[in-house]
Amino acid sequence: MSPNTRTPAHPAATLKIVVGSHIWLEDKDLVWIDGEVFRTEGQNVHVHTTNGKTVTVSISDIHPKDTEVPSDGIDDMTRLSYLHEPGVLNNLAVRYAKNIIYTYTGNILIAINPFQSLPHLSEPRTMEKYKGANFGELDPHVFAIADVSYRQMMNEGKSNSILVSGESGAGKTETTKMLMRYLAFLGGRSKTGGRTVEQQVLESNPVLEAFGNAKTVRNNNSSRFGKFVEIQFDKSGKISGAAIRTYLLERSRVCQINSPERNYHCFYFLCAAPLEDIKSYKLGDPSSFHYLNQSTCIKLDEISDAKEYLATRSAMNTVGITEQEQEAIFRVVAAVLHLGNISFVKGREADSSVIKDEKARFHLNATAELLMCDCGNLENALIKRKINTPEGVITTTVDPNSATVSRDGLAKQIYSQLFDWLVNRLNASIGHDTSSDRLIGVLDIYGFESFKTNSFEQLCINFTNEKLQQHFNQNVFKMEQEEYNREQIDWSYIEFVDNQDVLDLIEKKPGGIIALLDEAWNNKRFCKPKLSRTAFTIQHYAGEVTYQSDQFLDKNRDYVVVEHQELLNASKCSFVSGLFPSVLENTKASKSSIATRFKVSFSYPIITPAILYQVDWRKKILTKVPFFST
Ligand SMILES: Nc1ncnc2c1ncn2[C@@H]1O[C@H](COP(=O)(O)OP(=O)(O)OP(=O)(O)O)[C@@H](O)[C@H]1O
Ligand SMILES: [Mg+2]
Repeated sequence: MSPNTRTPAHPAATLKIVVGSHIWLEDKDLVWIDGEVFRTEGQNVHVHTTNGKTVTVSISDIHPKDTEVPSDGIDDMTRLSYLHEPGVLNNLAVRYAKNIIYTYTGNILIAINPFQSLPHLSEPRTMEKYKGANFGELDPHVFAIADVSYRQMMNEGKSNSILVSGESGAGKTETTKMLMRYLAFLGGRSKTGGRTVEQQVLESNPVLEAFGNAKTVRNNNSSRFGKFVEIQFDKSGKISGAAIRTYLLERSRVCQINSPERNYHCFYFLCAAPLEDIKSYKLGDPSSFHYLNQSTCIKLDEISDAKEYLATRSAMNTVGITEQEQEAIFRVVAAVLHLGNISFVKGREADSSVIKDEKARFHLNATAELLMCDCGNLENALIKRKINTPEGVITTTVDPNSATVSRDGLAKQIYSQLFDWLVNRLNASIGHDTSSDRLIGVLDIYGFESFKTNSFEQLCINFTNEKLQQHFNQNVFKMEQEEYNREQIDWSYIEFVDNQDVLDLIEKKPGGIIALLDEAWNNKRFCKPKLSRTAFTIQHYAGEVTYQSDQFLDKNRDYVVVEHQELLNASKCSFVSGLFPSVLENTKASKSSIATRFKVSFSYPIITPAILYQVDWRKKILTKVPFFST
């Protein structure tokens, strides 16, 4: 349908509401409920709702209902008679009830998480069907978005990006994988033996997920890092290379998890490895490791850690990670687990500590053996500190608390270096086609999060999502409004909430939260809860989130302790020493804080022809769909 036939939404107040009018009104349990007006009285109407209640409501609080919505809903929301929140939600609900999870809003695709396998949506036949079909000709589908990006790229020589946005658990990563599978289908080569580039691109997903995903309270396979995958094509449209760019991994999870969450999948996979690996890595039950047993959740019902271990190994083979490298990778993962079990007690002297007991010493030995470093040096690196004084370097001891902080810092550093190494290795193995001038990028980041307790990690994740939301506002609304201007359509009904003020609050210098953090507030999006000295609340585009600032300064710090670096740089294992290059090389990287790195990494421009808005229906996230005026 041409945009000329779109009907702008009318506020109910401007419509004639009469006895017999069908309307929507707010409901505290159902969000919206429909009903029929049976009496009007000045500015109020009396309504019989469809769930049997009789209510009186102000005319300004109701919205007209379209009574002629077809049973399958409407596949493009721009064609809804009334474009308001209940109309949009109802349309999606009607479709979802029939397992129709995709709906367009112009060239944006809204996908609802089905939480069940719907094979007809992803089978090869479906891919064939969408190949080359005109956009809008077939039912809304994620393949149609990928197809249009690919064709634009081929016909106009334009590179494209697809942005997948939505809250945690909404289904972004699953959708990203479908997009990548479809692009591999379009640009794949016939198999000539060996590994194809597209196979390697696809198999990079399980590897990254094993090391970068974890169970959270919102999602059993939550991405704890952001990912931008650039797929490169040659002139004939075949995939010729790829580049994976990741955004900071949530490091704190390595040593601190809240019940009933889990640590990164790879720890549990490794504890369920074949006996031979378990023996050589001196592993045991996952619940015997401090980094895993802080949570009551060790096992996930639907996941076999033993099978996933083998699947991860197999994916590593496909992407070209050698057996030798795999052995070193898992040895380092095991070392992190042992490291977490090295506990300390007070030493004889003041502010000193010693290894707690025989058990802790066993783990100290195991860590040193697996990292192939000197056991005495490892112990010293944890319980002693070198201090530069005008008289020279002196060595002091630290108390058990500081030794534990040092241990956890080392574990986080080892794990995040390992993750970065994996990403670099995947890139090196897949290969970057430097001659390619056409590519499709797919952005899948950690979704917006709001938990009971929110900390530094949530601030970073939600800041990233604010950035994306701003990008969405700036590009999509501007694009739409330009189109409406061209078509001479009155677009004044599209009001979107500009989120620049939230971004200023977080990133502006001076005075923004990140600036404050890096150095040691009158903004309507910010407030301080009365009963807490350390909490603050930000009114985000997706809702209000209260953050606990207690550990912010510590969590923002990202430097490698010199003693740790020297220790591991001297490892007899070249893989381990490679993770910790010389102090000189690393000082450049360690200058910036984590929050600053978040800020910088999301400042690059993204081209946006198509956007997916991913929805988790269970959480009624659509009540917060940010880009419709209501
Ligand atoms: N298209 C789909 N078909 C079937 N199940 C799905 C689909 N999309 C999502 N799911 C289910 O929902 C879960 C969460 O999806 P996913 O991991 O993609 O969320 P996400 O948006 O990436 O969340 P996060 O921001 O936490 O990474 C999946 O593990 C899967 O069980
Ligand atoms: Mg994800």
